[in-house]
Amino acid sequence: MRHLVDVSPEGGSPYPVYVGGAPDGMLAALWRDRWRQAVLIGDETTASLFAAPLVRALEARDVEVHVLRFPAGERSKTRETKARLEDAMLEAHVERDACIVGVGGGVALDLAGFVAATYQRGIDHVFVATTLLAQVDAAIGGKTGVDTPRGKNLIGAFHQPKAVLCDYGALASLDVSERRNGLAEMVKHAAVWDAALFRELEGWSGEEALPSEALVGRSIAAKAEVVSRDTRDRGIRQVLNFGHTVGHALEAATDHSLPHGQAVAVGMTIEARVAARAGWLADDDARRLAALLARLGLPTAPPVAFSDASSFLASDKKTARGAVRCALPSTLGGVTPSGGSYTREVSYQALAAAWSEP
Ligand SMILES: NC(=O)c1ccc[n+]([C@@H]2O[C@H](COP(=O)([O-])OP(=O)(O)OC[C@H]3O[C@@H](n4cnc5c(N)ncnc54)[C@H](O)[C@@H]3O)[C@@H](O)[C@H]2O)c1
Repeated sequence: MRHLVDVSPEGGSPYPVYVGGAPDGMLAALWRDRWRQAVLIGDETTASLFAAPLVRALEARDVEVHVLRFPAGERSKTRETKARLEDAMLEAHVERDACIVGVGGGVALDLAGFVAATYQRGIDHVFVATTLLAQVDAAIGGKTGVDTPRGKNLIGAFHQPKAVLCDYGALASLDVSERRNGLAEMVKHAAVWDAALFRELEGWSGEEALPSEALVGRSIAAKAEVVSRDTRDRGIRQVLNFGHTVGHALEAATDHSLPHGQAVAVGMTIEARVAARAGWLADDDARRLAALLARLGLPTAPPVAFSDASSFLASDKKTARGAVRCALPSTLGGVTPSGGSYTREVSYQALAAAWSEP
């Protein structure tokens, strides 16, 4: 694996992000002597596919290793699963000098990170990210948490990993539709942060929805830079919410049958149209964005009517004082703050108009 970038959280120590194949060797190399126990946490799929070499590498270093797994899927990202994992750790006498290794996609990493944040008031953790979405997004930046019936990610903590290993080789076994979920976040990073990456994505064939390791690395670097500047999501990190105000409402309105990446793709298309109609983004840029998403196999048209989704807009986390706020790019590659904020107030009327635009 190669060292790609360091994330430098405010008030915390920098941690490295590695990209490449064979994370077992890297894990053993970065393992700290004081971590006498390891708890690998993955879902059934990622634990079966990826845990064995990691366990072998750690056992070769005389580390006591426990592997904990839970059923794959967003429905497992709950307080109940977290409690079950914690109970298993208590039963196995896992102590404060243990290190949790989250292995999998965003669900496994959000859960593993949140367990690490609160187990015995907080222990260390490392991530081995195996989905494209986790590599370019969920593994970077220290947000951990679980869903509740009232909404996604409503209970959680900021807890930074000690290292992130992005297993590019793992993407080979990932479904094309799952890869596309990651591509949506890559397009988002390019649209709000990296104009050159946006052009490179436009120039890429999109074949098998598997971007090169170099493109994945560029997207990781964009996320790492944003979260290093604003770790606790009070300012510039909000640019990463582009597409998410509408996207979260679509996920809720479809009872989560629309995957997150697809919801964000539609959300970005609609929010960019809102920006173009208001004169905050060039019409041509909104069209280029929709064209890129469509070419990468992502949807750009909402699957439900505005009236079916509008009630879910109000419960979005970014909503302040009853107004809907969106993080909107001002060019393809950047967000200009307005009135000191990286989000803008958007009326329901403007959203409804952009929703039904052909
Ligand atoms: N913490 C953050 O900053 C952040 C950012 C973005 C998203 N997220 C969260 O991430 C979650 C979505 O993550 P996701 O899209 O990775 O979903 P996921 O973790 O559910 O993984 C998707 C599916 O792929 C399987 N899988 C994982 N790696 C595989 C591989 N290499 N080969 C074959 N199958 C594999 C998993 O078992 C699962 O069934 C959401 O809960 C979202 O809220 C968190």
